[in-house]
Amino acid sequence: MRILITGSSGQIGTNLALRLLRDGHEVFGIDKRLNTWSEAFPYLLQDLAGHYAPFPGGVNGVEYPETDLVVHLAAHAKVHQLVREPHRALENAMMTFNVLEYARQGKIPIVFSSSREVYGDVHRFEEYTEQVANFAYTESTYSASKIAGEAFIYSYARCYGLPYLVFRFSNVYGRFDNDLHRMVRVIPLFIHSMLRGEPITIYGGRDKTLDFTYVDDCVDGIVRGIEALAEGRVVNQTINLAYGKGNTLVRCAERIAAELDVAPRITLAPSLLGEVTHYVADLTKARELLGYDPSTPLDEGIARGVAWFLEHRAAHPEEDAPVLADHEGALGTGSAWKTAAAP
Ligand SMILES: NC(=O)c1ccc[n+]([C@@H]2O[C@H](COP(=O)([O-])OP(=O)(O)OC[C@H]3O[C@@H](n4cnc5c(N)ncnc54)[C@H](O)[C@@H]3O)[C@@H](O)[C@H]2O)c1
Repeated sequence: MRILITGSSGQIGTNLALRLLRDGHEVFGIDKRLNTWSEAFPYLLQDLAGHYAPFPGGVNGVEYPETDLVVHLAAHAKVHQLVREPHRALENAMMTFNVLEYARQGKIPIVFSSSREVYGDVHRFEEYTEQVANFAYTESTYSASKIAGEAFIYSYARCYGLPYLVFRFSNVYGRFDNDLHRMVRVIPLFIHSMLRGEPITIYGGRDKTLDFTYVDDCVDGIVRGIEALAEGRVVNQTINLAYGKGNTLVRCAERIAAELDVAPRITLAPSLLGEVTHYVADLTKARELLGYDPSTPLDEGIARGVAWFLEHRAAHPEEDAPVLADHEGALGTGSAWKTAAAP
């Protein structure tokens, strides 16, 4: 297949693109930033968040290559950043709209990356199946942007017959996630801080429990979805993709410390505004519809993640610097193709 991935310079996008290439698919990406991890696939540098005039072959008058399926991952993906800067939540919705318009005009099936954040802080529910999302409890502007994205997808399916799959991810970690000076994520931040002998802060207290997903499991679920959607086996479904077990953030920090052979210095603090403090995914639907069977428990995933981090840090010692804030590098609104490096 010829698969277009938006957000292809990000963590999930890069891992997914490389896996699809290995599986024999053609991949091309779109992102507003250069890909700092890989030169293996071509991509377009383009800001997808503008208010653009309709154009059938791509977004903002740029003709995209022939595409069989779109995986839409591009987003501002940090809860706290969007609470501080809510206009970015609207940009998320705008990106989804632009990509949906492209998909509608070309009749191209779409996979959308939603989040467990759409459930809100799920202590209030006893079971966390896909149906329990209650949008009256929108926890943050980031959640709102994902709920808006899902709503647009569902409306395009109803009004225009556009086939879709929506995946709700949860705390994806592993390879290509330690560009902390662009975007702070909790697991690589803890590794980074502990390596520097700095204390770490756990917001949400000792009981904060999340469903951490090793990136290869997440990518495996997406690939199963792509294949099922393209074959018409599984269409118009919303599916949780996670590991399916909860771990406290404290345990996660302790596992990282054990892998690094350091004593962690942990400060507990109240949860931040908009934060989800308890989530464990029900994976019944993913297992039944896609045969999804995540294979990397937290201990093993942390060991792999730490090993990858150390290898990467050894090649980039300059990244051993204080992490100040989670802000993204922007590239303006121009567009230019980047081609794959010669094999
Ligand atoms: N990683 C997780 O734990 C997780 C959990 C739930 C949902 N998600 C969702 O999955 C998707 C991928 O997540 P990720 O972890 O790879 O995030 P990421 O930040 O690593 O990748 C997202 C990419 O989108 C790009 N992007 C942002 N704004 C853009 C714009 N205006 N135009 C073009 N590109 C733009 C960014 O440059 C970035 O490379 C996101 O939609 C995110 O919200 C991720």
